[in-house]
Amino acid sequence: MIGYNRKKCAGDGVERSVSPKTTYWPPESGDAGVREAAEVLVSGGIVAFPTETVYGLGGDARRPEAVERIFAAKGRPADNPLIVHVGRLEDAVALTAEVSPLELRLMERFWPGPLTLVLPVRRGAVTPQVTAGLDTVAVRVPDHPLARRLIAKAGCPIAAPSANRSGRPSPTLAAHVLEDLNGRIDGVLDGGPTGVGVESTVVRVLDGMIYILRPGGVTAEMLQACAGDDAVVMDATEGAVASGGNAGIGAGAGAAAGRAPGAPADRAFAAGVSDPSRPRSPGVKYTHYAPRGEMLLVTGDPARVREAVQAAARRKREEGRRVGILACREHAAAYEADAVIVLGSREAPDEAARNLYAALRECDARELEAIVAEGFPEAGIGSALMNRLRKAAGGNVLTV
Ligand code: TXA
Ligand code: MG
Repeated sequence: MIGYNRKKCAGDGVERSVSPKTTYWPPESGDAGVREAAEVLVSGGIVAFPTETVYGLGGDARRPEAVERIFAAKGRPADNPLIVHVGRLEDAVALTAEVSPLELRLMERFWPGPLTLVLPVRRGAVTPQVTAGLDTVAVRVPDHPLARRLIAKAGCPIAAPSANRSGRPSPTLAAHVLEDLNGRIDGVLDGGPTGVGVESTVVRVLDGMIYILRPGGVTAEMLQACAGDDAVVMDATEGAVASGGNAGIGAGAGAAAGRAPGAPADRAFAAGVSDPSRPRSPGVKYTHYAPRGEMLLVTGDPARVREAVQAAARRKREEGRRVGILACREHAAAYEADAVIVLGSREAPDEAARNLYAALRECDARELEAIVAEGFPEAGIGSALMNRLRKAAGGNVLTV
């Protein structure tokens, strides 16, 4: 055993002793670490590992005791199903009752990668807790060398939600996993910072529609380009409807994909909104990613946003609170607050997406009581970024 239990992990600059119950495999443990982690999975244990999006907490999707431990370690509600991770397209098909030609095309185009497909489950393929008793299963093939080697070595489908305590931001470093789950899981494979930084795009394909249940690394534009005229991409995220059509996504993903207003995507979106049978993702109803301090998100014209952010921060400081600003690099230097945390350039939403969860954790580490965040442009992965920012703000959004 090359267990590194007493080794300290310091990916975020904070040194942590690792509990004897949790094995820490540092990046340099290489193949030996992967082999040991796979052995733990095969014997029914639970191990956190990096994917290209965020760290996942994995267990054998066929073993009830492993899956129960995942829910318990996270404090996850039992009605929120897990994503199953497999190594190859064929392994995904083996878990499902039926795959349509369009679904197959999405798999071929985007796997390995940050796209999760919700498909009819093949009975008995995974233990029922994985799907929370639903007749569908969410599946993806991750694109990270450690995840791929781990899945191949374990030789089983791996159920893996994000490796955070329920309600906390998803982990983008092994140090974040330990912050939340040290002593509650069997191990963590450290692969350094994850690349995309927000979770995979979750979609359901039904009747020529690709419903986005959760926006992520594969954007509406990319899905539409792959589907061509064979399907219409629709935004079916809860926030898009509940908050009265918040800016970009309220218009429907078809608009984001470059369609004219009134195009089929928009009509379909409008129809979908009032249709109680439209697909939903059980997870989206839970509070997510929220820092402990009260958060306000300000969106709109960049110059007005900058003024409104500074004004809101000033007011909150006058109330005697410790205030932080989540800013784009272009505006950061002009702000005054107890902490100004840069998410990334306004021109590079992928950078801000990669930094978002670490920034939200930093808000807690710096004991900020109020946080004012700038909105980012919604194009591309900006839509996933804004979805997470809205959730972190608990719907507390000011448009200027
Ligand atoms: O990038 C990701 O997707 C990461 C990495 C680890 O792969 N995983 C992740 O898992 O974000 P989790 O459990 O935090 O989020 C899974 C989402 C939840 O919103 C859940 O409700 C939804 O997928 N989901 C899972 N199974 C589903 C199903 N059968 N139908 C609809 N939504 C489902
Ligand atoms: Mg999660």
